[in-house]
Amino acid sequence: MEIIPESEWERLIEELVADKGTAILIGATDSGKSTLTRYLIEKLVSRDSVTSFVDSDIGQSSLGIPGTISMKIFGKAEDIEDFSADNIFFVGSLNPAKNIPLMIDGTKKMVNNARKYTELILVDTTGLIYGEYGKALKIGKIRALTPQHIFAIQRYDELEHILTMIEDIKIHRIEASQMVKKRSRETRIRYRKKRFDEYFDKTKLVEFLLDGVSFFYNGRQLIPKEVDFKEGTLIGLNHNEDTKALGILLDLENTSITFKSPIQSVKGINRVILGDINLYEQEVNILL
Ligand SMILES: Nc1ncnc2c1ncn2[C@@H]1O[C@H](COP(=O)(O)OP(=O)(O)OP(=O)(O)O)[C@@H](O)[C@H]1O
Ligand SMILES: [Mg+2]
Repeated sequence: MEIIPESEWERLIEELVADKGTAILIGATDSGKSTLTRYLIEKLVSRDSVTSFVDSDIGQSSLGIPGTISMKIFGKAEDIEDFSADNIFFVGSLNPAKNIPLMIDGTKKMVNNARKYTELILVDTTGLIYGEYGKALKIGKIRALTPQHIFAIQRYDELEHILTMIEDIKIHRIEASQMVKKRSRETRIRYRKKRFDEYFDKTKLVEFLLDGVSFFYNGRQLIPKEVDFKEGTLIGLNHNEDTKALGILLDLENTSITFKSPIQSVKGINRVILGDINLYEQEVNILL
C-alpha cells in the first residue's frame, strides 16, 4: 500500500528528530493512526533515528498478533521489511474496555522495554476514544507513559474531551487524511483471522503438555476450574510477566494443560495466561 503523506506530517518528523522521547498516536477507528505511525517509522529510520514502535492496538494490531501489545526496534530499513514484534505482552482479549488497567500495564511494560534501547518511541493505540471507557483508557495510558508528544488525529473535535484533561504535554492536532479507507466489520474480522492463521501456521505447530504452572486470566491468578475454558482458547505462554509465545488450548485439567503452539520449547514457561478469544468459535469477530 502506498502511503500518501499530508503536508503537515513533515513537521512532526522534524519535531520528533529534535525532541526525541515518546509520542502516542490517538484517534477514532479509521482515522489513519497506523498509517501515520508506519510513515513516521520509515522516515525516522531513513534519517538514522533508531525508533521503537509499541503497538497497543489489540484489535487491529499492525505489528503483533490480535490480543497482544507488542514492540519492535527499527534501526535500519531492512527492519521495516520484517514487520513483526521483538516483544509481546498477551492481553487475551480483543476488547480494550474489558480490562483497562491491564491494557495500560501492558503498554507501559512495552514502552519501558523500548526506553532501555531507544530515545524515540511511537505508540499506536486502539480506536476506543468515546464514552467513559474511551476516556479512561486514553487518559490512563497518557498518564502512565508521560509521553513528550500526543499526536491527536481528528476529523472534527472528537478527541477534545480527552485532550482538555491533559497538561504539560505537547499536543499536535492533526487532521485525519482524506485518503483513509474505512474498513468494514468483515474486513476487520478477515484481517484478524489472517494474522492468527499466519502465526499458527499448521506446519509449525507442536503439541505440548505442561504441569505445575500458574494460570492467569484477565490480569489475575486463578484456579482454572473457576472459569470454563474451552478448546480453542487463545493462551499466552509466559516466563513470569514476559510473554514468550502464544498457544491454542486443547485441554485443561487441574494443574495440567495441553496446547498447540509454534514455540520451540516450553523451558522456562511458568505461567499460562488464559484469554477470552476462542479461535475455534467466532469470537474473533467482536469489536474494533
Ligand atoms: N495517508 C494515507 N495514504 C493512503 N492510504 C491511507 C492513508 N491513511 C489511511 N489510509 C488507508 O486507510 C486505511 C485505514 O487507515 P489506518 O489503518 O491507518 O487507520 P487506523 O486509525 O489505524 O484504524 P484502526 O483504529 O482500525 O486501527 C489503511 O489501511 C489505508 O488503506
Ligand atoms: Mg490502526
